[in-house]
Amino acid sequence: MSITVGIDKIGLYIPQHYVDTEDLANARGVDPDKYLIGIGQEKMAVPLLEQDIVALAANAAKEILTDEDLETIDQIIFATESSFDFSKASAIYLHELLNIQPYAKGYEIKQACYGTTAGIQSACDYVQLRPQRKVLVVSADIARYGLDTSGEVTQGAGAVAILITANPSILAINQESISVTSNQFDFWRPHYSDVALVDGPFSTQLYQDLYLKVMERFEEVDANYLQTIKAMVFHLPFTKMGKKALDKYAESKSNILDDKTKENMIRVWQNIYPASTVLNRQVGNLYTGSLYLSLISLLIFAEELNSGDVLGLFSYGSGAVAELITGILQPQYLDALDKNMIIAHFDRREKLSIEAYEEIFSQSLTTTEEVVEVSEGTDGEGFYLSRIDAHRRYYAYKS
Ligand code: HMG
Repeated sequence: MSITVGIDKIGLYIPQHYVDTEDLANARGVDPDKYLIGIGQEKMAVPLLEQDIVALAANAAKEILTDEDLETIDQIIFATESSFDFSKASAIYLHELLNIQPYAKGYEIKQACYGTTAGIQSACDYVQLRPQRKVLVVSADIARYGLDTSGEVTQGAGAVAILITANPSILAINQESISVTSNQFDFWRPHYSDVALVDGPFSTQLYQDLYLKVMERFEEVDANYLQTIKAMVFHLPFTKMGKKALDKYAESKSNILDDKTKENMIRVWQNIYPASTVLNRQVGNLYTGSLYLSLISLLIFAEELNSGDVLGLFSYGSGAVAELITGILQPQYLDALDKNMIIAHFDRREKLSIEAYEEIFSQSLTTTEEVVEVSEGTDGEGFYLSRIDAHRRYYAYKS
């Protein structure tokens, strides 16, 4: 017998520092409206060296886990495309830092920005068979394109932690989904490069094409359920992207839905869409976590949502895999989200000058045997990378 499984808790961590995209535009000789309106980004999170993906993820997860959770988590699934080790998974560090019960297992998964969605589905399957147990899915990334590149304004960083349980408080995830895979070079990062390689215009086109493909398939498989979706949440590399995908779908001709039905359905999604972009506009691309940051944003800012509403979550990872999963909002979803904690992350932020951002961007961690004291925790409360000793990373907590 199938039971309800899905997202019980969501935690967020974003770095303390940011760049104002208007300042960035002025420094790069670009009209600020291109970044603010054309791209749809106001701020871009900038991590210090002490905030690697482990520190970011540990801070996101710590906010949401109780002692009971730590005893019942069986798996830590770490989705990232900013990994610093080809062998040892970042989840292992997290297991220790969070003090999760010793018989849990941890591993890392990768498929660009799509990874978290694969992790969530795997977690749901696990909990479906073992309803008393829980799975922690974390996503943490640092999006880097390089100074004065067209992708620069779409950088960002942060982590989202999601606890998957039976009888979840936030979103029950449906088993059926629509996915598609297509071997492409829109965005990738060979191991010898610390910035992404990207064909920007092609990547935005491919994203829209795969969204269209997924939607056409959804229409074929279950057009009735598609029409019950109240809000469509997107992976947001920048906030204009989801709007572009929705507009493209609106312009396409359906073989299944009549024009009026389709137009009405998409209009509802277009009206609610801005609420799902509020937080992403302030952070930039989180890569694996962006879709779930957008979900948090929607849940906090979309006043028209109610428990029982069906949400569509469009996940896209360059290379490329796309998948649309759906879920049902649960009665306690607003109580389960720590809105104050999330807003507090944004209130504590400090603006960087462009010079300070460029200085931080040019820094890198040691790649030699030397012992380096990375930081004493300059970024405020939380976990941070404190030391690297003979290629071994050590973390500390500042309260
Ligand atoms: P660009 O070439 O600098 O920008 O790069 P553009 O010329 O295409 O302009 C962008 C928009 O601004 C356009 O609007 C312009 O008209 C508008 P659109 O046609 O798109 O509606 N514009 C203005 N608007 C108002 N006032 C003005 C003005 N001037 C221009 N004065 C690009 C943009 C996104 C390509 C670049 O930033 C980039 O390469 N970013 C990185 C790649 C990316 O984010 N791709 C998105 C899809 S791929 C994806 O989502 C996966 C990813 O997350 C990675 C992963 O999966 O791991 C990236």
